[in-house]
Amino acid sequence: MSEKLEVLLTAQQLQARVYEIAKQIIEDYGQQSLVLIGVLKGSAYFLADLSRALPEEVRLDFVQISSYGAGKTSSGTVQLRKDHDIDIHGQHVIIVEDVVDTGLSLSYLKNLLATRKPASLRTAAMLVKPGAMKEEAIPDYVGFKIENDFVVGYGLDHAERYRNLPYIAILREDSDPKA
Ligand code: IMP
Ligand code: MG
Repeated sequence: MSEKLEVLLTAQQLQARVYEIAKQIIEDYGQQSLVLIGVLKGSAYFLADLSRALPEEVRLDFVQISSYGAGKTSSGTVQLRKDHDIDIHGQHVIIVEDVVDTGLSLSYLKNLLATRKPASLRTAAMLVKPGAMKEEAIPDYVGFKIENDFVVGYGLDHAERYRNLPYIAILREDSDPKA
């Protein structure tokens, strides 16, 4: 089955939006130090760009969860596969996600990290698919609201491919009626 990529957001659009989000975060947190916790693997590019647009008082960490297999739909259950290392007790924490689809992953992580008593806990996602929102997991910082398409690039994958695209594209397959 052949696949087709349709550019949705260019590298320039992504970079410009990252700087706007960083500006907003700087306004909100001032001089306070921050811990950014990226959700592996999809958030890697967003986290790298966002952190470099923020002042030096930023620490990075990662968590990994599994909810999706090799397919395009969520399995519906979320499991923690890798925890963060930095002690976030009393810290200002922002969870950094690639995309919020059902919201299950982000609300799972928010609940988990909240038990560790950070001084504050917010969430940032490059993309949000509002139509599919199952739970109240709208991020505090949103890059772009998109339609309910399956997208790849800028960290997002399909079966581990396409993460390295510098832009975000809709992945269409030949059998896809919208192709
Ligand atoms: P949620 O728990 O349904 O919000 O799913 C969020 C996770 O599913 C994201 O962190 C991605 O890893 C994955 N995901 C959701 N939609 C897409 C997509 O369009 N492309 C690639 N991965 C996606
Ligand atoms: Mg993810």
